Amino acid sequence: MGETKVLPADAPEVAELEAQGWRVTAWSFGAQLDVDRIDRQRLQSLVDRTAGTGTTRALGPDDVDAVLRLDALTVHDYPGGVATQHTPLDHRTATPTTTRPAFGTVTPDGELVAMTFVDTDGPHAETDFTVVQPRLRGRGLGQAVKAASVLALADTGTTRFRTGGSAENTAIAAANAALGYVRDEEWVTLEPRPR
Ligand SMILES: CC(C)(COP(=O)(O)OP(=O)(O)OC[C@H]1O[C@@H](n2cnc3c(N)ncnc32)[C@H](O)[C@@H]1OP(=O)(O)O)[C@@H](O)C(=O)NCCC(=O)NCCS
Repeated sequence: MGETKVLPADAPEVAELEAQGWRVTAWSFGAQLDVDRIDRQRLQSLVDRTAGTGTTRALGPDDVDAVLRLDALTVHDYPGGVATQHTPLDHRTATPTTTRPAFGTVTPDGELVAMTFVDTDGPHAETDFTVVQPRLRGRGLGQAVKAASVLALADTGTTRFRTGGSAENTAIAAANAALGYVRDEEWVTLEPRPR
């Protein structure tokens, strides 16, 4: 990949770079949910809706093989440019820890069909990525694993949740809105025009 810059959409540098021949190749967003705005009942109902598919729960070290399988199946499914790129997981990054907790939906026969990984820093949490098995998308699983993460982390002291993604990713934007996230950042990715 050539040179790229990711800047806030309203940064003066964006117009300057465009005047020099750079062009915007992707849009992305950031969004926030503060713990005092969480509607626990609503989030719990989003989790409960997945009961027909499987159990939505925190993931642990025993789930690493299943995490790596789902990641390998979906690694090319993330839209957008460098700002929203997904780095394929390895054994270390697929292992949930206290500062990198993960939540997923597991079917009765043990298949992991949805997962979200979160990076935490004290009382702040930021979603790393969320992904659903391709054949089960659009059934509420993406919302459910994100809702499960917010509920569990709120119980253990997280006060601010952040998330983001590609502006063209309608499904994740809708999932975030359903959880109560408010969009507060717009970013652009710029690339120089090919000579
Ligand atoms: C993004 C993703 C995780 C969403 O999970 P999902 O289980 O398919 O989504 P849900 O069923 O929970 O739906 C969430 C919302 O998006 C909407 N939606 C789902 N699929 C959609 C689609 N293809 N286009 C538009 N909207 C869609 C749903 O209607 C719902 O909105 P609503 O609450 O207003 O009805 C999933 O599509 C996916 O794995 N995509 C590939 C990886 C990716 O892009 N991850 C996000 C970046 S980290």
